[in-house]
Amino acid sequence: MDAFVIQGGKQLKGTIRVNGSKNASLPLMAAALLTNQPVVLEGVPALADINNMKRLLSELGCGSTETASPRRMTLQSKNETAHAARYDIVRTMRASICVLGPLLARRGMARVSMPGGCSIGDRPVDLHLKGLAALGAEISLESGDIVTRAPRGGRLKGARIFLGGAFGPTVLGTANVMSAAVLAEGITVIESAACEPEVEDLAVMLNSMGAHITGAGTPRIVIEGVKELHGTTHSVIPDRIEAGTYIMAAAATNGHVTIENCPIDDLLAACERLESAGVHVRCREEGLQRRTRATVEVTSDRRLRSTQITTQPHPGFPTDLQAQFMALLTLADGNSIITERIYPQRFLHAAELTRMGAQIHHQSGTAVVSGVKELIGAPVMASDLRASASLILAGLAARGRTTVLRVYHLDRGYERMEERLKAVGADIERIDDKDLPQNGSGGD
Ligand code: EPU
Repeated sequence: MDAFVIQGGKQLKGTIRVNGSKNASLPLMAAALLTNQPVVLEGVPALADINNMKRLLSELGCGSTETASPRRMTLQSKNETAHAARYDIVRTMRASICVLGPLLARRGMARVSMPGGCSIGDRPVDLHLKGLAALGAEISLESGDIVTRAPRGGRLKGARIFLGGAFGPTVLGTANVMSAAVLAEGITVIESAACEPEVEDLAVMLNSMGAHITGAGTPRIVIEGVKELHGTTHSVIPDRIEAGTYIMAAAATNGHVTIENCPIDDLLAACERLESAGVHVRCREEGLQRRTRATVEVTSDRRLRSTQITTQPHPGFPTDLQAQFMALLTLADGNSIITERIYPQRFLHAAELTRMGAQIHHQSGTAVVSGVKELIGAPVMASDLRASASLILAGLAARGRTTVLRVYHLDRGYERMEERLKAVGADIERIDDKDLPQNGSGGD
C-alpha cells in the first residue's frame, strides 16, 4: 500500500490550479444513464472514485471513452437492459447510490446493494427511498439489495416531497430524486432540497439535456417532467473542497499560494472562519457576479488565532473541510471549538493528530482543540478521505518527518496530491509502505 513521507516545516509558495469536482462528477456521470445519446463531461478529475463509477456504469451498459488533453469523458448508454449495481462495487464507493434514480426513471427498475456504514458515520439512505417512493416507486429490500420498480405503465409520477432529515437536507438524495423526477409524468416539488453547488451543477446539465428544472441551489426545486432527454456537453464545476484543502495547506505552512480556478463564492463560510483565525484569502476578481473560477491569494499571520466552527449544510461551513481545519487549529493560540453537525462521529483524525502532539478532546459531535506550539512528525494512519488530507496538512506543518499510511483513501478524492504540493515547495514523497522500516518510527 502507498504511504506519504513528509519532511515538515517547508513554506508553500507558488500556484495551484483547482481540478473539476469529484462530488459533482459522480452524479453527473450517473445521469448519463438517463439517455442513450452521448454525454460529454469536461474536467472530470482522475480519481479512484471516478474509476469506480466508470466501472459501475460500464456494467450497466454505459461505456466511456476519454481524452487527456483537453480532459474530456464521453459516456453513452448503449445497452439499456441492465439494472443492478453489485455489492462489491457499492461497498468500495457509497456514491454508487447515485445510479438508483436514473436507472429507475429510464429503465423502470433498479437494484442497488444497500450501502453499509462507513468510517465517518452511519450514513443511511432512507431519504433517497422516501423521495423515490413519493414518485410512485415500489421499494423492497431483497438479500441486502434495494430493489425499486416504477409503477405499472412504467413512468414515475410527479409529487411534492419534503426531503429534510434529522441532519438537514441530503445532497445525493436530492440528486437522486431530481434525476428521477426529470422523466416523471407531471410536476415534482422538492422542499428542503440540498443547496450544494454540486446539486446545482447537476440541474444545469440536466436542463441542457432537455429537462425543466428551476430553483436548484435553493431549498425548493421544481421539476416539470419530460418524456425524454438527449445528449449534451457539460463542463464540471471546480472542486470547492480541493480548493479549501489547498488554501488550508498554504495557511498551515505560513506560505503564500495562489489558487487558480477557485470557486471562492462557494467557500464563503470557510473563508470567513479562516479570516477569523488569521488566514488572508484575497480574491483578484472584483464585481458582483458569482465568482466560481477565481484567482485567490492565500497568506497567513505567523501564529493563528483560535476560533469556533460548526459544520452545516451549504452555504454553511462544509463537513468535508472540518478535518483539515482541525489540523490548522492544532497550532492556533488558545482553545478552539469544532461542532460537527452533519456527521457527529467524524473525528477519527483527532486521535492521529494527537500522536503528533496535538491536544484535542471530543465528545458527542464537539471537539475542543487546545493549540500547541508545534506538532512533531510521527507515523499516522489515514482512516477516510478528508482525515487523510488533515494528516497531510499536519505533516506539512510539523517539525521532522511524518509518514501517512493508507493514502489510498486520499487518492479517492485528490488527484496526485503529492506532485501538486511538491510543485509549491513541499518535501513529500509517495512510497510503498513495504519499504518503510519495520518499526515505522517517525520524528527527525
Ligand atoms: N442522511 C440521512 N438519510 C439519508 C441521507 C442522509 O439521515 O437518506 C443524513 C446523513 O447521515 C448525514 C446528512 O444526512 O448526517 C447529510 O448526508 P448527505 O446525504 O447530504 O451526504 P451524501 O450525499 O451521502 C455528500 C458527499 C459527502 C459530504 C456530504 C455532506 C458525495 C459523493 N458525497 O454525501 O462527501 O460529506 O454530501 O455534504 O457527494 C467527501 O467528499 O469526503 C464526502 C464524504
